[in-house]
Amino acid sequence: MGALLCVENVSIGAGAQLVQRGVGFEVAAGEVVAIVGASGCGKSTLLRHLVGLEQPLAGRILYRAHDIHRCGSAQLARLRREMGVMFQSGALWSSMTVAANLALPLQLFSALSADEIAQRTRFQLELVRLGHTRDLMPAQLSGGMRKRVAFARALMLEPSVLLLDEPGSGLDPLSAELLDDIILHLQADRGMTTVLVTHEATSLFKIADRVVFLDIQSKTLTAIGTPSDLLAHGPPAVRQFLNRGGFT
Ligand SMILES: Nc1ncnc2c1ncn2[C@@H]1O[C@H](COP(=O)(O)OP(=O)(O)OP(=O)(O)O)[C@@H](O)[C@H]1O
Ligand SMILES: [Mg+2]
Repeated sequence: MGALLCVENVSIGAGAQLVQRGVGFEVAAGEVVAIVGASGCGKSTLLRHLVGLEQPLAGRILYRAHDIHRCGSAQLARLRREMGVMFQSGALWSSMTVAANLALPLQLFSALSADEIAQRTRFQLELVRLGHTRDLMPAQLSGGMRKRVAFARALMLEPSVLLLDEPGSGLDPLSAELLDDIILHLQADRGMTTVLVTHEATSLFKIADRVVFLDIQSKTLTAIGTPSDLLAHGPPAVRQFLNRGGFT
């Protein structure tokens, strides 16, 4: 079976700055792939490129064999609906309650009734153990709670692929473990494909099938493999990252 997502020789920039060059890897359907690297190496920038929000300087990104930067806006919108995205900041709509934040993607992009939307909102909020926050505004939540709400919102449209930017950072260990368990459950139960940015080496060993390492000095991908292979045979910077449980 072909890859669900192909990153082919991609170079990315932010402002006038070249961030990464010649990055290439594939993500198979049903795989959990972690993107790691030092702060500022371009992980969030790459994630924004993967969902078609930014245009690469060179190379192609294929999702289900469609070049997402050359397929036209209607097709891109259709493909994006299959992607559950969680940005590093959470990016909740600040003037809407938690429940309204979850319901909006369904109101915009599904034909579900108000009752069905309310039911799914309740279900996803319970999944991240935040059922009691449904009528609160984002500003009334802790940073970690906002992340869990953003994670729940990414699941609302029953995506085929999840793209998550540091879902576990800023969470207490139990909440971080809960998100890891949900990602693994979705993989086992629904064959969910997940691409996630993470700094947490413990979580990476638990959930990632493969790891992509972006190097900040050479500005390119320097290692790709299973966490245990990279720990044993990866370049020194990668082994150090995996040994220390993250960059400090
Ligand atoms: N909008 C922007 N304009 C200019 N430069 C930017 C912009 N966004 C990011 N950058 C720069 O691009 C580089 C990569 O940023 P990015 O946010 O992708 O890093 P990251 O790997 O996600 O870091 P972190 O682990 O801290 O989240 C950084 O040098 C950053 O300063
Ligand atoms: Mg980032």
